[in-house]
Amino acid sequence: MISICILGSGNVAQQLVSAFEKADNIQLVQVFSRKQNAISTLSKSVSIIQDYNQLEPVDLIIIVVSDDAIVNVSEQIPFQNKLVVHTSGSVSMESLSDANRKGVFYPLQTLSKTKEINFMEVPLCIEAETNSDLKLLHQVASAISNNVYEIDSNQRKSLHIAAVFVNNFANHLFQIGKEICIKQGVSFEILKPLIFETANKINTLSPKDAQTGPAKRNDTTTINKHLDFLSNPNHKEIYKILTKSIIDNGKL
Ligand SMILES: NC(=O)c1ccc[n+]([C@@H]2O[C@H](COP(=O)([O-])OP(=O)(O)OC[C@H]3O[C@@H](n4cnc5c(N)ncnc54)[C@H](OP(=O)(O)O)[C@@H]3O)[C@@H](O)[C@H]2O)c1
Repeated sequence: MISICILGSGNVAQQLVSAFEKADNIQLVQVFSRKQNAISTLSKSVSIIQDYNQLEPVDLIIIVVSDDAIVNVSEQIPFQNKLVVHTSGSVSMESLSDANRKGVFYPLQTLSKTKEINFMEVPLCIEAETNSDLKLLHQVASAISNNVYEIDSNQRKSLHIAAVFVNNFANHLFQIGKEICIKQGVSFEILKPLIFETANKINTLSPKDAQTGPAKRNDTTTINKHLDFLSNPNHKEIYKILTKSIIDNGKL
């Protein structure tokens, strides 16, 4: 049995609590939560603490708090030489307190406490300072996910930026598409099969090969008509930048 404490009770912490509770060979001992009710509704069995001095000396402590609080929380842990990891895509492993052994346990997925997810499908990116700690993180990660990757801090930084493009930016484009539809009295529903097919296509084609549309065809007549139609200056700018990027990409 590998014993674990989770520090935090937000989106990722709650998904991890659910995942660890279903896992064999993992004992979730405690969750540190500033809000008593945040976890108690989720788990009846886990002990909830609100004081770092109540932490038990478990095998692994996972800090799952907002990025700007990670360093401070790592400094509150009242132990020496324990394995302490965080779950952030953008915070370096080195920034954790020197008092303990350091690592990273980054789930590369958009996680919300209100949206159930099959954690076995979530890619987990792990990093540690020593092979033995990496081995332990591998065991823990494999207990809750079928997709475990050893990723160093530089690779994780790149992955986080790539994730912003494919998730946050793509989702913002869905939002713009929805606004354009609604303005003309068309339901956003009609675009959903196109969105799903766009995502599905990359299972069989590279994103470059899957690209279609006026920019890919370098169809300046249609591109100019679209630019004339768009009244929102941000939408116009985004359309221009993405069109240029697709045209330039076609020349490579
Ligand atoms: N959500 C995602 O999709 C996702 C995906 C991958 C990685 N991550 C990473 O996972 C970590 C947690 O993200 P999240 O989405 O779960 O955030 P979140 O839902 O906003 O939750 C943040 C948690 O941090 C706690 N917290 C904030 N400041 C604190 C402090 N000074 N001391 C103690 N606790 C503090 C909050 O406590 P209160 O509730 O009491 O304020 C809350 O429990 C971040 O490093 C994030 O980058 C997130």
